[in-house]
Amino acid sequence: MKKRLWAVLFGALLGGLLLPGCPERNPQAAEVDGGKILQTRCTVCHDTGRIERAGHDPATWRQTVDRMMGKSNFGPKLTESELQALLEHLATLKQ
Ligand code: HEC
Repeated sequence: MKKRLWAVLFGALLGGLLLPGCPERNPQAAEVDGGKILQTRCTVCHDTGRIERAGHDPATWRQTVDRMMGKSNFGPKLTESELQALLEHLATLKQ
């Protein structure tokens, strides 16, 4: 009987600790943050100023990012999901 009580208490404690933290701790979501990709991968050769001023439409952004990725070995190598997140973020910059 005593053992069972401990098991229930322990279970409740563990559940209470782990469950509320779940949404924030999703590493996948943090990894494909378009703004973060821009800050870390697109500022190697120039700052974000020219990116924010460009005001391209989505199709032109796609071409521009492709061009940036092809520039050299230093160009950002993005996975498909990183590329999508970045393009979505770039589309929000358009004035
Ligand atoms: C390997 C270095 C390098 C990296 C990394 C890089 N750029 Fe560039 N970028 C350049 C150079 C050099 C120019 C100026 C010459 C030109 O336009 O091609 C430029 C120009 C630009 C321009 C202005 C020209 C235009 O077509 O509007 C934009 C916008 C831009 N970059 C966006 C980006 C974005 C977004 C990223 C991240 C995906 C990025 N860059 C990463 C080197 C780089």
